[in-house]
Amino acid sequence: MTFVARCTPFAFVALAACAPSQDVAMPEPAEGALLFAQNCAICHGANGQGGSTGTDGPPPADLTRLSLANGGVFPREMVLTTADGYNRQALGDQRMPEFGGFLGGETVPLDVSGTASAEDANLTPVPRALAALVAYLETLQVE
Ligand code: HEC
Repeated sequence: MTFVARCTPFAFVALAACAPSQDVAMPEPAEGALLFAQNCAICHGANGQGGSTGTDGPPPADLTRLSLANGGVFPREMVLTTADGYNRQALGDQRMPEFGGFLGGETVPLDVSGTASAEDANLTPVPRALAALVAYLETLQVE
């Protein structure tokens, strides 16, 4: 049994090496809910329905009406570029902070248009944190 005991640590390493290096399962809304609570709720409200920055200037948007304002389609691309900071110029001011920190880590394949059928889905590697936020925000949309 000495042999087995000696080999066990190596067997464990070998198994770990065989496991997929990336878990590409799409994040659940709950993962995004946590990120939202930590990073967004202070301005956009606990339920995403808008709030205040405590300053003059544009109020934080009601994030439950993004689909409604976009013809019934959740504007994934806009949300992604807004949260990661790529879209800052379009926003006209800097009142909403950039969350470039969300750009690190593993990526998951997300259909950024959100409208394509499975065959022509425009899958783009998106940082997991941003994909999680999108998944969560989509659950908040009002009809
Ligand atoms: C410091 C306050 C603040 C924080 C924190 C904040 N936002 Fe915002 N956000 C704003 C303000 C103010 C606006 C509206 C004015 C603007 O677009 O800059 C806005 C606009 C947006 C928009 C655009 C909505 C539209 O209809 O154009 C999205 C999407 C958004 N925020 C998502 C997020 C997400 C996701 C987070 C968390 C990762 C977040 N925000 C954190 C203040 C904030």
